[in-house]
Amino acid sequence: MKTTFKNNKRISVLGLGQMGRRIAQLYVEAEYQVTAWNRTPGKVDGLGNIRLAETAAQAILASPLIILIISNNKSVLEILADLPDIQIFKNKTLINFTTGSPGEAESIEKIISDVHGAYIHGAIQASPDQLGLKSATILSSGNKEAFEKYVNDLAIIGGNIRQLSEQAAASSAMDTATSTWIYGSFLGLIYGAELSRHYGLSLKDYGTIIGEIAPEFIDYFKYEVELIERGDFRATQSTLSNHLAATQRLADSFKAINVEQTFPTLINNLLKKAEQNGLGDEELAALSKIIVKHS
Ligand SMILES: NC(=O)c1ccc[n+]([C@@H]2O[C@H](COP(=O)([O-])OP(=O)(O)OC[C@H]3O[C@@H](n4cnc5c(N)ncnc54)[C@H](OP(=O)(O)O)[C@@H]3O)[C@@H](O)[C@H]2O)c1
Repeated sequence: MKTTFKNNKRISVLGLGQMGRRIAQLYVEAEYQVTAWNRTPGKVDGLGNIRLAETAAQAILASPLIILIISNNKSVLEILADLPDIQIFKNKTLINFTTGSPGEAESIEKIISDVHGAYIHGAIQASPDQLGLKSATILSSGNKEAFEKYVNDLAIIGGNIRQLSEQAAASSAMDTATSTWIYGSFLGLIYGAELSRHYGLSLKDYGTIIGEIAPEFIDYFKYEVELIERGDFRATQSTLSNHLAATQRLADSFKAINVEQTFPTLINNLLKKAEQNGLGDEELAALSKIIVKHS
């Protein structure tokens, strides 16, 4: 049967894992002409109106816009190195959403731009089920012209699109920075859950109260980041010494319930170090001065 499409836009998706499958599905639903390739065959099953490419090269040749999303950028570099002719990227745009380091983004950018292709390095800050929502955040960096040309196509994947810089590495760096904040909070989350559990509190209440206090704390975090940007740490909210006392209580509380001590000790020790360095009367954001290593 001949496949028909409402839309004459062509897009290729390389990598049909959890993310790639959902991305391909969103473009199928938007009636793009979707060509897909995956290292292991059989992953297009159930995706509907889609063309299957037998090789990565075939998928790249099929469309002007190529989305790549696989496990890691070492494998992306291998795929590029194995292509029969890297020139197939000439006049095409590659959007690589594979998570990786800023250095990897720069290497891939060079390979693509050397053959006159346009490169956008992306980072998706959402899970597969959140893709397609207006709230899903897509970070983008690299070729500005290509970004402007394809921004509406990117919006199929997520509505909150941020083009950070023409430096391809920027979205990787921002993804790493925001992931650091998420994992830091997550560590606190599970320690708090254990404390709640230990004292017989409802974990449902714990989750609800976190949800209720989060917006105010996010505003406070944004204010502290502004202070770091300005380099102005004069105390306006609460001194670092007050927070040192709070983290001492936290460390003592976790010692009392005999859980693994690394996290509560770490945060308490960093604040102690800050106070020993004369930062006690400054705003908590002054802690940032302690983590910078001067060579
Ligand atoms: N899942 C999430 O919630 C999420 C959110 C944001 C960002 N991401 C990022 O999105 C990327 C993909 O994640 P995912 O959850 O879709 O992963 P996944 O479900 O584990 O799928 C991994 C995909 O990478 C392919 N792959 C792995 N090594 C390869 C190689 N050497 N050559 C060719 N293809 C290779 C796999 O192909 P096979 O089928 O042949 O194994 C599969 O299509 C990752 O960089 C991840 O960090 C994921």
